[in-house]
Amino acid sequence: MGTIAEPDSGSSKAHTLDWLLRAEHLSKSYAQTQALAEASLDLYPGEAVAIMGPSGSGKSTLLHVIAGIISADSGKVVLRRPDGSGNDDIAALSDAKRSAFRLHRFGFVFQQGMLIPELTAEENVALPLLLLGCNRSDALQRANAELGRLGLSGLGGRRIGQLSGGQGQRIAIARALVTDPSIIFADEPTGALDSRTATDVLDALLATSEGAARALVIVTHDEHVAARCGRIVRLLDGRIEATR
Ligand SMILES: Nc1ncnc2c1ncn2[C@@H]1O[C@H](COP(=O)(O)OP(=O)(O)OP(=O)(O)O)[C@@H](O)[C@H]1O
Ligand SMILES: [Mg+2]
Repeated sequence: MGTIAEPDSGSSKAHTLDWLLRAEHLSKSYAQTQALAEASLDLYPGEAVAIMGPSGSGKSTLLHVIAGIISADSGKVVLRRPDGSGNDDIAALSDAKRSAFRLHRFGFVFQQGMLIPELTAEENVALPLLLLGCNRSDALQRANAELGRLGLSGLGGRRIGQLSGGQGQRIAIARALVTDPSIIFADEPTGALDSRTATDVLDALLATSEGAARALVIVTHDEHVAARCGRIVRLLDGRIEATR
């Protein structure tokens, strides 16, 4: 993995800590559509950031580029190593290295959970560890420990079709956490839930970054969700219009 020199730390009034991830001048076009235009964003340990904006404004594209799922046409995404030994430039990694890097350092929660219906809840949670080469019994043990921390111990043996929407999303949060990632990315994680269940799922998500060395990024259309995040980034036509 390539190490790059420490960029200027920038001036962030709200934060005394150093950034965890730095995304600079990201641009991405699809044919005539500019999905992202020079978007820059720093993420800090312990914070929750909401990404908002109208449909088509580039929210998912920003999330996917920052998370290394798709690559930008230009710009840079750098993640600090947890051991302080340097930074990794995500775009500079080969596809294979980037996949492993994503599994280690990032967790994902999507609107519909994206859980695998043929597997039990505990197998779904163990999956990132199995993909990283962990043996099955260790992976299941860590998955069950994560389920326990989230108060979901009783659900491990169920198949996904036997869970409610809210339970499924909390299983997805357990799966996102199982590798102890630096950043959790969530795209409309409560979009398919009723408001009471959405609050429970949001509580569980916010707890993943509160007081932790981890950051949480939530794409949402819901102002109530955004209001509970420490910072809101608003996109319009691929540009970051405002941050508060
Ligand atoms: N794979 C793709 N191919 C072509 N155009 C795309 C692709 N992905 C996104 N776009 C376009 O890029 C723009 C930004 O899309 P994006 O999915 O990031 O928006 P969004 O803000 O997440 O919208 P929504 O709120 O509807 O999820 C849109 O105009 C979209 O049509
Ligand atoms: Mg989207």
